[in-house]
Amino acid sequence: MALPVANPHPPFNITRASHVVLTARDLEASRVFYADVLGFIVSEIADDALYLRGLEERAHHSITIRREAGPAVCRRIGLRVFTDDDLARAADYFQQGGFPVRWVEVPHQGKTLHVDDAIGTPLELCAEIDEVPTKLQEFHHYKGASPLRLDHFQIVAQDVLKGTLFYTALGFRLTEYTASDGSRDELWGTWLQRKGNPHDVVLSNGRGPRLHHFAFTVPESRDIIHACDVAGSLRCPVERGPGRHGIGNALFVYFRDPDGHRIELFLGHYQAIDASHTPMRWDLSDTRRSQLWGLPARATWFSEASEFPGQPPTAPSLHADPVTLETFLANQY
Ligand SMILES: [Fe+2]
Repeated sequence: MALPVANPHPPFNITRASHVVLTARDLEASRVFYADVLGFIVSEIADDALYLRGLEERAHHSITIRREAGPAVCRRIGLRVFTDDDLARAADYFQQGGFPVRWVEVPHQGKTLHVDDAIGTPLELCAEIDEVPTKLQEFHHYKGASPLRLDHFQIVAQDVLKGTLFYTALGFRLTEYTASDGSRDELWGTWLQRKGNPHDVVLSNGRGPRLHHFAFTVPESRDIIHACDVAGSLRCPVERGPGRHGIGNALFVYFRDPDGHRIELFLGHYQAIDASHTPMRWDLSDTRRSQLWGLPARATWFSEASEFPGQPPTAPSLHADPVTLETFLANQY
C-alpha cells in the first residue's frame, strides 16, 4: 500500500494543535490536579468552566474543563488556523465534501467552526483566542512539571488509514508510522504534523474514535521527575513512565486526571520541516517504538481513553495488538 502523502497546497491553513475541551464532575478536583500537581496556570474559573494554559502560552486557554454531570468526555479537540479567511475556506471545503459544519460562539475565541473529521473526532477550528501575557520568563510561577505549551493529540482510530487520508488532504505530513509486521505498510498508527515537529495529531488503531491523550511539552528532564515527586507527595498516581519513546524521541510521563482524561508531559522532539523528510517506519512488535528503555505500557494504557459525546466507539478494522506489559512479562517467565 502506498503511504498517504500530504497535500502540498491544502485548501486552508491549519497551523497547529491548540486546545482541548473536556468535561469533569468536580472542577475543584480538576484545579488541584492541573494547577497544584502539574503546574498549569489558571486563566479563569467562570460559568462552570475552568480555563488553563501552559507557562509559555499567550492564548487564554489550551485546556477548557466544563463541569458536567455524568461520565466525563472530551467535547472537542482544537486546531488553530492562520486567519479567519482560512476558516471560511475550511467551511466551504468541508461542506463540499459532505462534512456538516456549524458556526458557534465560544468564550474568549474568535469565529469558531465545528466539524467532525472522517472518523468522527469532533474538531473545533478557530484563528483567534484572546491573548494574555506569557509567563515564560516569570520563573517564580514554575512548579510541578512546569508545562509550557500544548503540542499534540493522540486519537484512537477505528480506521487509521481513513483518518490519515483526511488529515493529509489538509496538508498534514507523516513523520513516523507503525505498521503490522511483514505488511506492506498496513497502518496501525500515524504521526502527523503541521507545525514542523513530529506531530500535532496521532492516530492509533483501536476502538474509536476516542481521545487517548493530549500532550504538553516541559522545559527540562528534571521537570518530568519533579512532577512525579509532587504527584507522589499529593497521592496522585503516575500512570506510565518516565520513559523515552522511540517514536518522536520524547522523554515522557503520563498521568490520568481525576476524571480519567490522560495527559502526557514530555520533551525531546525534533524538527521535521524539509520536504524530503522520509516517514520512519516501525514494526508493531518492536517495543522500542513505544519505549526505548524500560518496560512496555500496561494493557489499560492502550485500551482506556476518553469518549467523544454522540460518537460511540466502534471496533477497529485492523486486528493487530501491540506488546503490553502483561504479555511482555508473561513471555519472560
Ligand atoms: Fe503523545
